[in-house]
Amino acid sequence: MFVDKDLQLNSLGKLKHFLSIQGQEQSLLTEILNTAESFADISAQQVKKFPLLRGKTIVNLFFENSTRTLATFELAATRLSADVLSMNIATSATSKGESLLDTIRNLEAMQVDMFVVRHSLSGAAHFIAQHTAPHISVINAGDGQHEHPTQAMLDMFTIRRAKQQFSGLRIAIVGDILHSRVARSQVHALNILGAEEVRVIAPKTLLPVEVESLGVSVYHDLTAGLKNVDVIIMLRLQKERMNSALLPSESEYFKCFGLSDEKLKIANKDAIVMHPGPINRGVEISSSVADGPQSVILQQVTNGIAVRMAIMSMAMQSNNARAE
Ligand code: NCD
Repeated sequence: MFVDKDLQLNSLGKLKHFLSIQGQEQSLLTEILNTAESFADISAQQVKKFPLLRGKTIVNLFFENSTRTLATFELAATRLSADVLSMNIATSATSKGESLLDTIRNLEAMQVDMFVVRHSLSGAAHFIAQHTAPHISVINAGDGQHEHPTQAMLDMFTIRRAKQQFSGLRIAIVGDILHSRVARSQVHALNILGAEEVRVIAPKTLLPVEVESLGVSVYHDLTAGLKNVDVIIMLRLQKERMNSALLPSESEYFKCFGLSDEKLKIANKDAIVMHPGPINRGVEISSSVADGPQSVILQQVTNGIAVRMAIMSMAMQSNNARAE
């Protein structure tokens, strides 16, 4: 669904829109990681600003709430010297009845160069990319339960920094896979980048049907699933997307699927613990694990800036190349 590689690349095969991970080439994902690496190195210095997107206007169009994603997209654009406008559409024109396309047309009339879109409907960013003016790039910042490709790339960046390479790695993704656009993008990215094994660990009620077809091994038992893993990715219970009671209680859930110090000991000694945030302490992860030495949760947030700088600058450069 919504795999449209041609839509994402320009006529020279360069990134134009970044909408999904599914179907991308390994070389493109590696290019993003390598570009992010150079931004991360320079961002660690005192002066964090680059003139790459000077004169460009980026609009963050967020139809759904966000803290980390919006803030890091905004910082990434600012550090690339772009002009940035962040719009919380939930409280804006669409609530007055304006259609999505009319909102886009009005923003286009303000001469923007890039839309970063978060929407509760799967396919929303693809829809905008299909209908917007040809010089504008669109980046998907999370569409419904479909994909969250920039989150997956910052996760891949964090894994590569900790483990150097993907081959030989066993990764477990634990929790609410059913409602998670992050998990879907991560599974595609890990398989494209050549991980040894991707496991999903969840109760049956929180797994999509035919989840095996995504290229994962399925576990319903955390103790069995964590054996020999190098990376553990915990997911939030997305209660806002659950329309029926899929779980007995939060404390029961933590007992079976929550990551405690004891459960963490089952994984490899040097395993890292990740979570896209926001975390629910005591529901999917204990505070001692979230704040403990194996956690890289805050590194994920820091890395989000460099990875988003990489994706935005690559998309804008391919647009410039097209125009020349
Ligand atoms: C995720 C999202 O919005 O999909 N969070 C994020 O982008 N940092 C995951 C979540 O909300 O649980």
